[in-house]
Order: sequence, then C-alpha cells, then structure tokens
Amino acid sequence: MTPYPPDPSFNTHDGLSRALELLTSRNHDSVDLPLTLPESGLGDMRALEALSSHVLDGAAQLDSPTSVAHMDPPTPWITWAMALWNASLNQNMLHEMTSPFATQAEALVLSWLSPYFGMQGGHFCAGSTIANLTGIWAARDAAGVKRVVTSEAAHLSIEKACRLLRLELVKVPVDPQGRLDCAQLPNLDDACLVLTAGTTATGSIDPLSLVGAARWTHVDAAWAGPLRLSRTHSERLNGIEAADSVAVSAHKWLFQPKDSALIMFRNLELANAAISFGGSYLASPNVGVQGSRSAAAIPLLATFLAWGREGVAQRLDHLMQMADSLADAIEKSDRLELWGRPQTAINVFRPMSSSAAALVEALPSGMLSTCVLEGQTWARSVAANPLADMALVVEKIRAACP
Ligand SMILES: Cc1ncc(COP(=O)(O)O)c(C=O)c1O
Repeated sequence: MTPYPPDPSFNTHDGLSRALELLTSRNHDSVDLPLTLPESGLGDMRALEALSSHVLDGAAQLDSPTSVAHMDPPTPWITWAMALWNASLNQNMLHEMTSPFATQAEALVLSWLSPYFGMQGGHFCAGSTIANLTGIWAARDAAGVKRVVTSEAAHLSIEKACRLLRLELVKVPVDPQGRLDCAQLPNLDDACLVLTAGTTATGSIDPLSLVGAARWTHVDAAWAGPLRLSRTHSERLNGIEAADSVAVSAHKWLFQPKDSALIMFRNLELANAAISFGGSYLASPNVGVQGSRSAAAIPLLATFLAWGREGVAQRLDHLMQMADSLADAIEKSDRLELWGRPQTAINVFRPMSSSAAALVEALPSGMLSTCVLEGQTWARSVAANPLADMALVVEKIRAACP
C-alpha cells in the first residue's frame, strides 16, 4: 500500500524528468487500467508509466504534417512549462491572495490585447462557449436585451446561452458566402446582435458593418479574433472595435493549451457591474460565470513574451497563406469542388465523383474533418497547425481522388 503522507524518498525531480522523457519518447509500455476504482495505489512513478501509452499515444498528433482538421493547434513548449508551473501552484484567480502575480499578469495581457478589439478589458474564461455566455449575460443584465439575433451559421454556444438565459433566439439565414444576410435582419431595437468572425464550419465573417445596429452587439471572434494582431489581415475584422463585447478563444489561434479564452467589453465597468457577485468569503467580487479559475493568462503571457505580436502574426499569416494554397489546388483540380474561397483559413470542398465522407475516410485519420451545409456533407480543412505541410496534404487529397 502507498503510504500517506507520501514516502519522503519520493523525488519530484525524478518524477518530472521521467514524465518529460516519456513525453518525448515513442516507446510506451501498454498497461491495462483497472475497471473499478483501485483500493490501493500504484505509487506516483508506476502510475506515470501505466498512463504513458494511454495518454501520449491515445491522442491525435496535432503537430503532424497532415493535421489540418480542426481549430485545435499544436501548443508551443513554453506553454507546457507554464501549465506545469500553474498546476504545481494551483493558484485560484477567484482569490487574489493565492494568485497575486497571476492576477497582475491577467490584467497585463488583457491591457495588451483589448485595444486591438477596441475593448477596455475583461477576463479569461475556460473557452468561448463561456465567453459567449458571459457577453450575452451582460447584454441582458446591463442593456436589458430581450432577444438574441444571430445567423444560422452561429456556433451552438449562442443557442446554449439563450436557453440558459431564457432569451428568445432569432436565426437569420446566411448568404452564399456563409455570412449573416443583412437583407433578412429583423428589428434590432431590443436585441443583442451576435455576429461571428470566423464561423465554425466555413470560417465566414459576418458583416461587421452591422456592429452598433442593435441595443448590444456581441462579436463571437472565437476563431478569427487573433487576426487583429496581423498587419496583413487585421482589416478583415474592421468594425469589431465598436462592439459591446467580444469573445476570443486563446486555445485556438493563439496557440494556447485548453482552457483559455477571453471575454472583453467596451464599457468594462458597466458590464462588470452586471455580471459580478460579492460574497462574505470573497475579498473582491466574483466576475463572470466561473468561480474558481486557473491562471490561464500565464501561458499566454509567456507566448507573447517569447514571440511578440510579430511572432503570432507571422504564424497566422503563414496559416492564411497555407489555406489559400490549398484553395488554389482545389480550384485547379477537375476532380474537386471548392465551396468558396477561404475567408479565415478554413477550406470546405468535396470530390466531384464520390462522397466527402468517403474522401475523409480514405485519408490519414485527423487530416480532414467534415461539415454539413444545407443538408450536404463537405470535407473541411482548418489551418491551425503552422507545422503542416500543405504540399503533402494536397498530394494526399489528389491521390485519394483518382
Ligand atoms: C465560432 C465559434 N464560437 C464559439 C466556439 C466555442 O468555443 P470553445 O470550444 O472554446 O468553447 C467555437 C468552437 O469551435 C467556435 O468555432
């Protein structure tokens, strides 16, 4: 039986060194896991060995040269180091006492990023599902909106937020480029208009000229928001700076480990007053949906320190260019049909003479995903992996489409 408190001879340094060794090695012994809660433990080192094959081999390799299926990027090692430090400290953003530097770091990172979106500030949360919920909650309680208007291509988190907040949801059809069709907008006087900058299926950007047309405008920039950091592509999101709230997933195009996203507000004081709770045990109010929260700003702070805005922008520009090169190859092929030019590095296409599902199935696992548009299944490629080799991806698609 493992003694508790732990055996003092247990050496943290050896354990973490072994974890790193296993992470970078290809040889992991497969060990069956118990089917019921184990009565006694294996000890930390043996547990580490037992899990290595399951955890390390049982996941997609997001940095592989053919990995272009989803919005999940490979993460840089500097973020792994910060995640390790965070886990070891287990600080809580709810209690500044446990996280004095992390609290400052979060404020610093938000002060760096908010101006790119015309926002005053905000907070980190576990993902854009929560960021969207928080933005729409502020719209309801700070501006008194009665309903949410969004496009049919909006992410399901908008519908989820409406259900939770008991707000009516009105879905507006999209145009042939997958953008909210302005001609079909209802009256917006008592509405929160949710515009998407980079829809999940096609990467389309809703017309951001509509920002300000409703009582509250929330921009779901979960995917494409980071393009604001690119001098080449920032203007695609022009108009976002007049929104009332903006959601951005850092664990997508800011290359962060999960769970990392930002909700930002144009009038921070107004929004925070609507979404804050005090409590006798809290030194400062709890702002937003989550209670206890990790120091997710630290890995992002490290990434910006390491790469600068320029380093992030170079990667995004490269990914946009990779997606363009895939679109060019699809357009040139007489065996493939392109749904439309990529707006934010997402390509949607299908073979002329077989099904998209069959094409995706014939390719290496994790290379492409599928999406359904107007009842039709299409193949989908998302450029989130700067290490992907698009020439190889094109070659494999061509070979699978004889
Ligand atoms: C446009 C859009 N909004 C919101 C979300 C939800 O983000 P998360 O998965 O970070 O909760 C996604 C996820 O793919 C998305 O594509």
